[in-house]
Amino acid sequence: MSDPTLYPVSDAWAARAHMDRNAYEAARIAARETPDHFWGDLSARLDWMTPPTTIKNVSYDKADFRIRWFEDGVLNVAWNCIDRHLATRGDQCAIIWEGDDPSVSGGLTYAELHRDVCRMANVLKDMGVVKGDRVTLYLPMIPAAAVAMLACARIGAVHSVVFGGFSPDSLCGRIEDCGSKVVITADEGLRGGKRVPLKANVDAALEKLAPEYRVQKVLVIAHTGADIPMIADRDIAYAAASEAVGDDCPCEPMNAEDPLFILYTSGSTGKPKGVLHTTGGYLFWASYTHELVFDYRPGEVFWCTADVGWVTGHSYCVYGPLANGATTLMFEGVPNYPDNRRFWQVIDKHKVEVFYTAPTALRALMRDGDEPVKATSRASLRLLGSVGEPINPEAWRWYHEVVGDGRLPIVDTWWQTETGGILVSPLPGATDLKPGSATKPLPGVELELVDAEGVVLEGAVSGNLVITDSWPGQMRTVWGDHQRFFETYFAAYPGKYFTGDGCRRDEDGYYWITGRVDDVINVSGHRMGTAEVESALVLHDDVAEAAVVGFPHDIKGQGIYAYVTLNAGVEATDDLKKALVTHVRKEIGPIAAPDAIQWAPGLPKTRSGKIMRRILRKIAENDVGSLGDTSTLADPSVVDDLVRNRTGAP
Ligand code: WTA
Repeated sequence: MSDPTLYPVSDAWAARAHMDRNAYEAARIAARETPDHFWGDLSARLDWMTPPTTIKNVSYDKADFRIRWFEDGVLNVAWNCIDRHLATRGDQCAIIWEGDDPSVSGGLTYAELHRDVCRMANVLKDMGVVKGDRVTLYLPMIPAAAVAMLACARIGAVHSVVFGGFSPDSLCGRIEDCGSKVVITADEGLRGGKRVPLKANVDAALEKLAPEYRVQKVLVIAHTGADIPMIADRDIAYAAASEAVGDDCPCEPMNAEDPLFILYTSGSTGKPKGVLHTTGGYLFWASYTHELVFDYRPGEVFWCTADVGWVTGHSYCVYGPLANGATTLMFEGVPNYPDNRRFWQVIDKHKVEVFYTAPTALRALMRDGDEPVKATSRASLRLLGSVGEPINPEAWRWYHEVVGDGRLPIVDTWWQTETGGILVSPLPGATDLKPGSATKPLPGVELELVDAEGVVLEGAVSGNLVITDSWPGQMRTVWGDHQRFFETYFAAYPGKYFTGDGCRRDEDGYYWITGRVDDVINVSGHRMGTAEVESALVLHDDVAEAAVVGFPHDIKGQGIYAYVTLNAGVEATDDLKKALVTHVRKEIGPIAAPDAIQWAPGLPKTRSGKIMRRILRKIAENDVGSLGDTSTLADPSVVDDLVRNRTGAP
């Protein structure tokens, strides 16, 4: 499994990097011992209207729980990402846009970004949006998505981006939860040559809203130019509205702890949580980690392939790069359209220097062999990155040897929606690489491995990954449910933040993330709660009960395996399996579609009625030799039936 080979830092990297080995060790100590001084000095990387004098104010104790950074500082995120660069890089490209269709590309300079953001901010103001209001964004990967995020930030509105692949139901739930009065969408998106009916989905979502959550306005950006119905008094065409406003809009002064955005993510129970990030700490962390981990210099072309609907897109397509004066590339399409050379051709076309993607994409492309990669030059690249799930050593080596021609370091970056930015990663000038390991924590990130009882484990060992101290980019609350925030992350191991991940530490102190230890599955680098998929399945008329687990999947990392108990009298057919897959796609979105469905006349339950997921996971993994003790089950014979009828794809 693990590959012991070490890829040492090259002399050239050690010489060029922002942080070499010694600087890294010194920063680790300084962040630990004198945090106020360390982070206080570094906070000057942002432009403050009022610089902070109080740096860190954190307690993870229940009685005194608080997480605050730079709390008396005042700043604006749009100013930091745009205005402050205008004097030196107004004509530099801020966003390169590569369309789904390879013949379509474009972009914005910093000066154009400024104009567009101001205009959209003015349109939002005219629509009645004020500081603190929530605005839901449901957009394709086009520059207008970044413009909309920054326009909200400019006027102090809180954006909630919903990934364009989510269904109307999912969108509706997210709008209700944060009470958005305004939705920004586009007529349609394009992905792999297919049209995504974004505006139609918004219409469907808004029809489902409970009356008290009525959305007042929908701002519609024309992207494909499709002829879509507009609803009078509610829908506003952006093109016309932006003509009617000026292209100057002052930046709203924001306290460092004022909310910047909400982003919904799946947890182990219940509906998705609205992860809340704030203005100062989040922007600081996105900017600091983008510079450090990617060893970024202003003006370099940086490409993060994530959609802005995920946190990776927030921090490393938009906020981190733009805060650092980067040229960031936004790609609307998919890796295999029109064919599997697309990523590499885009790198050559736009002379990309840093490329940051997910292992699932690499594994899918790897299947097609080296030829599509070798047909391109990739000479502009100087660094590769990986994010979202553990990268298996085989994929790591292919990335390194084939994509990187054996000459580029790979930064395998571990982090979460909750962490705001990267927490564990090699630094290209400081950390020797081991394929499959996210290596070591960044300065200020204090990791521990604990057992189920919370006993701290020392040395080379596996355990649950916790973080014992705060970092500026940490989430501040679950929107509307501060209690849930505390219970989810700080109750399991008092005084510590629990990540939900399992992890191994080796003899060299390197960390190897082994995956989630809760009921969250990671499908193609996207988080999905088993409870969400189960709730969707039981909404179907024919389904009595469902239990969902993850199982190893060659391309996706983990696939979704559903055990379904049908209502009495319903016939278990293959057509019904297909119908259930379609049903889940409709309820949540395509990313939640089960990869396998197994009919389960009964589910393994304890006498108190709790489903024994451990057993279901083993069966799904086809590891039926080690099911462990089944004697505590109410009806152990259920397990024999499930093992006998283990299934493949629907
Ligand atoms: C997993 C994505 C191993 C992990 C940024 C985490 C990883 C979850 C890595 C967060 C990595 C992310 N190696 N596992 N480099 N990066 N993960 O919130 O299980 O979508 O808890 O944030 O992805 O997923 P999220």
